[in-house]
Amino acid sequence: RSLLTLAVLTGAAAACAPTGSTEMRRPRAENRLRIPPLRDPRPGADGVRRFPLTLRTGHTEFLTGKPAETWGINGSYLGPTLRMRRGDLVAMDVRNQLPQPSTLHWHGMRLPARMDGGPHQTIATGGTWSPQWRVDQPAATLWYHPHPHGETADHVWRGLAGMIIIADDAGLPARYGHDDIPLVIQDRVIGDDGEMEHDKRPTFGLMGDDILVNGTLGAQLEVYTTLVRFRLLNGSNARVYHLGFADGREFHVVAGDAGLLTAPAATARITLSPGERAEIVVAFAPGEPAVLRGFAGDDDVDDGNHQILRISAAADLSRSPALPDRLPGAGPVAVPAGARVRRFKLSGHDEINDREMDMNRVDEVVPAGAREIWEVRNAVYAHNFHIHGVDFTVLDVDGTPPPAWQAGRKDTVYLPPKKTARLAVEFDRHTDAATPYMYHCHILRHEDDGMMGQFTVVPPGTESWAPRTVSHAG
Ligand code: C2O
Ligand code: CU
Ligand code: CU
Repeated sequence: RSLLTLAVLTGAAAACAPTGSTEMRRPRAENRLRIPPLRDPRPGADGVRRFPLTLRTGHTEFLTGKPAETWGINGSYLGPTLRMRRGDLVAMDVRNQLPQPSTLHWHGMRLPARMDGGPHQTIATGGTWSPQWRVDQPAATLWYHPHPHGETADHVWRGLAGMIIIADDAGLPARYGHDDIPLVIQDRVIGDDGEMEHDKRPTFGLMGDDILVNGTLGAQLEVYTTLVRFRLLNGSNARVYHLGFADGREFHVVAGDAGLLTAPAATARITLSPGERAEIVVAFAPGEPAVLRGFAGDDDVDDGNHQILRISAAADLSRSPALPDRLPGAGPVAVPAGARVRRFKLSGHDEINDREMDMNRVDEVVPAGAREIWEVRNAVYAHNFHIHGVDFTVLDVDGTPPPAWQAGRKDTVYLPPKKTARLAVEFDRHTDAATPYMYHCHILRHEDDGMMGQFTVVPPGTESWAPRTVSHAG
């Protein structure tokens, strides 16, 4: 008993704190938060804004002086933040210099399936892929990451991911890296030699207790304005974060996965499962310290009490414009009476509706522009559910509507153990009966093991004769 008390006092017990404890795990080192470079290219003579993106290997020092072998995009770990606006014509020039084939998927982007970067758009080693599209969706924080079937967990864990900002003019803090801060949150295992470790845990796969933010271990940030917007992305393979500040302060959520809310929503705690995003605005007083941290939930495989980001406000803060009362969010997806309901059951770590993913099978065929209810039931332990090429709003989880901060447009929803979520889903109008979009659990080990299905979007009225198989060349 006295030994136990001593361990708590010295902080040594943090590594084995029981669920329910709020003892915070401190990082092994502290480093200034890295801000990924911003790419916001001007249009060329052809009116196209080009983003060169090279997938490559490299070395990254998570621990000073001890480089790890990592993968990155245009750099050694993660990739640049890509900023664009609604109406822009954009082209991605993706070059694969990895020793393996991969893909690059634009998570949350509403575009034709053949540009989606899913498992059917493989880029061979040494190859390039250049999709081009017009951005036609509301302002939001999106992201990009590889999606090669069976290898996504490994490619993302090694460092391949980046943020995409579709800029708004809603009067929110918007100076990138100054009062508009990207936070790509990832858990990893960094060995004492500085190398990244790749041991899978049972059930959930790759997880760790070293929290990286934008690839920074033990991230700390100084802020200079009275209001700061953070764009939070859970870029982890499996970990679910219950985020809040150590002092319990409230903040305002202004956007979810797929865009702005209709009004800022005050809360002290948000949950983000892998792939989910939230934009929050936090108020600071001069000279004030604050710690963004994770709290334990009943879903995690361990306690979840991690320090995420240590913040200190400068002694002099410049005054930010007031937070607007209303925001130009799209509001809930309105599903017509008699809308089609499709049901999905997630079971084990590899099946949806009792089947594993088959690259050649089309599981669902949806008429373009449809609004449907997708009912997703989680049979056992924690999962989530992401749908490509759509926006949805959560109608309810086990009959309970979401809190205001979670009521905006989304593309990924958390499914706590043994719960059922009903989603109001709005599909795009891009049709292609030969190229599927994906839906899947975004716990990457589950996705790789087959907890994924494919759907095509076809002209209304052609569903019954649309092909139920697609050929996969990879
Ligand atoms: Cu973020 Cu199908 O992926
Ligand atoms: Cu996606
Ligand atoms: Cu899962």
